[in-house]
Amino acid sequence: MFLVRSFATGLVLASGAAQAAPKTYALPEPTAQFKPLKSHETGLEAAQANCMSCHSIDYVTMQPPGKGKAFWESEVTKMVKVYHAPIGEADAKAISAYLADAY
Ligand code: HEC
Repeated sequence: MFLVRSFATGLVLASGAAQAAPKTYALPEPTAQFKPLKSHETGLEAAQANCMSCHSIDYVTMQPPGKGKAFWESEVTKMVKVYHAPIGEADAKAISAYLADAY
C-alpha cells in the first residue's frame, strides 16, 4: 500500500514539473578565451564557435603543451564522434591545425 501511494505521488510531482514555466538562464561570459593566432584565423573562429558550448576552454588549456597535430585531430574527432559535437569536416580540420599551433 505504501509503495503504491509513493508511486502515485511521484507521478503527480513529475507532471507538476512538466507544466512549470520554462526557466531561462543568463550564463556568465566565459573568462578564458582562445589565444588569438593571426595565421589560423578560420580555426580560431571555428574553435570559438564550436568548442565552448559544452565545456570551457580549460579542457584545451589543461592539456600538456606540444602534443602536436595528430593529438588535436583525434581530440576534435572524439568530440564529434563520441560526444556528437556538430562540427563539419572543414571546421574540424581548421580547429585541429589551430590548436596544434596555439597549444
Ligand atoms: C557536444 C559537446 C562537446 C563539444 C561541442 C566539445 N566537447 Fe570537448 N568534451 C566534451 C565532453 C563530454 C568531454 C569529456 C568530459 C569528461 O570526461 O569529464 C570533453 C572533453 C574535452 C577535452 C579533455 C580531454 C578529453 O579527451 O576528455 C578536450 C581537450 C576537449 N574536450 C576539447 C574540445 C575541443 C577542441 C572542442 C571543439 C572542437 C570540443 N572539445 C567541443 C564535450 C564536448
